[in-house]
Amino acid sequence: MRTQESTIDHAVVAAVERSVHRLCRQYADRLQFHGWHHVGFVRAKAAGFARLNGADVTVVEVAALVHDVNYLVLRNSPAAAGRSLRREILAECGVPPRIAQWIDEIVDEAEMATRGRDISLEAQALSDADTLFKALPVTPVVLAHRYLRENGLSLRELAHKIVGEQCDVHEEGYYFYNPEAAATYSRWATANLQLWQCIKEAVDDPTVVELLDAVHAVDALAS
Ligand SMILES: [Fe+2]
Repeated sequence: MRTQESTIDHAVVAAVERSVHRLCRQYADRLQFHGWHHVGFVRAKAAGFARLNGADVTVVEVAALVHDVNYLVLRNSPAAAGRSLRREILAECGVPPRIAQWIDEIVDEAEMATRGRDISLEAQALSDADTLFKALPVTPVVLAHRYLRENGLSLRELAHKIVGEQCDVHEEGYYFYNPEAAATYSRWATANLQLWQCIKEAVDDPTVVELLDAVHAVDALAS
């Protein structure tokens, strides 16, 4: 059923949801960080931000559902690495090619490593939801070690990636695009980035490196 305000039929959105959910379940061991818990959160929050900023809600929802399929294709990869799989899922679920192309562009625009101040409203809604997931106070506590495992990174590499990609955007004032999101979540973002800046400094201390090596040695014995 297509409602007047929906660019994408709700049955098609549901089909994309089922398809991505199935992939997340099937490859749960490869998607330690970017599994359904991440996709479901980003989809729900992105839809909310789209309603707030007037973006196309169904297009944003579908973009959120397929925004991280690159992690199924290649570890530690940019969104563009998932383009073929993304287009395959969208085509199989009945998303018209013109809209699929638009969704691809939104996903590229919203990527943290390359996003600018002026991106489309749809990319802003997706970006704010994805950025919020990064800034949640629970993420470094419950999920950071999963990111390391999923992407084969060391703690040092992840700290450098987060500080390198996110601090400038935060300082330049477009960490969140939506003013309400910025007002509500900037304190969390600031605390999170300070934590990662501290981790980046801590891993330069040789005694901390010894501590981490000892932890890894115990983990290796236990596995
Ligand atoms: Fe994401």
